[in-house]
Amino acid sequence: MTADSAPLYEHPDRNLALELVRATEAAAIRAQPFIGKGDKNAADGAAVDAMRKFLGTVDFDGVIVIGEGEKDEAPMLFNGEHVGTGRGPACDIAVDPIDGTSLTAAGRQNAISMLAASDRGTMLDASSVFYMNKIVTDADGIGVIDIDRPIGDNIRALAKAKGKDVGDIRVAVLDRPRHQQLIEDIRAAGAGTRLMLDGDVAGGINAARYGTRIDMCVGTGGSPEGVATACAIKALGGFIQTRLAPKDDDERQKGIDAGLDMDKLYEADDLVSGDNTFFVATGVTDGGLVAGVKRLGPIIRTESIVLRSHSGTIRRIEADHLVEKWL
Ligand code: FBP
Repeated sequence: MTADSAPLYEHPDRNLALELVRATEAAAIRAQPFIGKGDKNAADGAAVDAMRKFLGTVDFDGVIVIGEGEKDEAPMLFNGEHVGTGRGPACDIAVDPIDGTSLTAAGRQNAISMLAASDRGTMLDASSVFYMNKIVTDADGIGVIDIDRPIGDNIRALAKAKGKDVGDIRVAVLDRPRHQQLIEDIRAAGAGTRLMLDGDVAGGINAARYGTRIDMCVGTGGSPEGVATACAIKALGGFIQTRLAPKDDDERQKGIDAGLDMDKLYEADDLVSGDNTFFVATGVTDGGLVAGVKRLGPIIRTESIVLRSHSGTIRRIEADHLVEKWL
């Protein structure tokens, strides 16, 4: 192809996913010394720096649409920040160098490093409203679940669609005071809860993934995490419904000014449009989605998943990294 005939715009392709996983691996590796050390900002800072550095080596033209870290003035990759070499496919990027910074600092399970990418202009910037209500299941929830119905009705409908007893439905919920009534309602319906201390991206993915111990993930969590989850859901062929949940009138107005609709039901295609999304995650601490990063003598072992909506593939990548290369 000559320079004149080269396409002006390239779509991210399969190779990009495997390049991007290097960035989440690097973030997990750099966070590893901070696991259980009680300093979540130090862990997050190490992960952010590593992710930024590795993204800088990847041939793509990325813009961070969903950054994370505004809360508690944590370190962050900024919304609007350009990442990549600037050569290659133009992408929107969602990052969370550690989803589960408190889990990491405490040495608890289920912290991951994650990154999602999609064609430029396809990701919803929901960052002006901190929280959204979410409900996530696998494909059995399509046409069956409705976020506006009582949770008991949704649990019964999902159980029927799955051909399961309601008593066998397991619902992941963030363990927060705001979810007290929701948790009571789930149990009153006869289903079991799986309470998560943090990390509803992994919770959502596990609800949508085949063969896990979770059937549904529900409740109020971060909006950036909701958009990132949607990128994974598109690759898994699952179901996600969300609605923004502004904390107060000021945040509601901020959201409206940013073009968001507080009453709209945002589903997978509204959160990220098109059929070219990538999601990669590497375990920081052990969890149901991926094993945590481990130092094993001369090597550091990471486990990652790579999801691509275009092909509907989930790849699991175990990598051993020589410690001496990371000194
Ligand atoms: P961070 O580790 O990135 O701070 O996020 C953890 C998390 O549990 C998310 O998975 C979740 O969406 C959000 O925080 C919930 O927010 P809050 O802790 O305010 O309930």
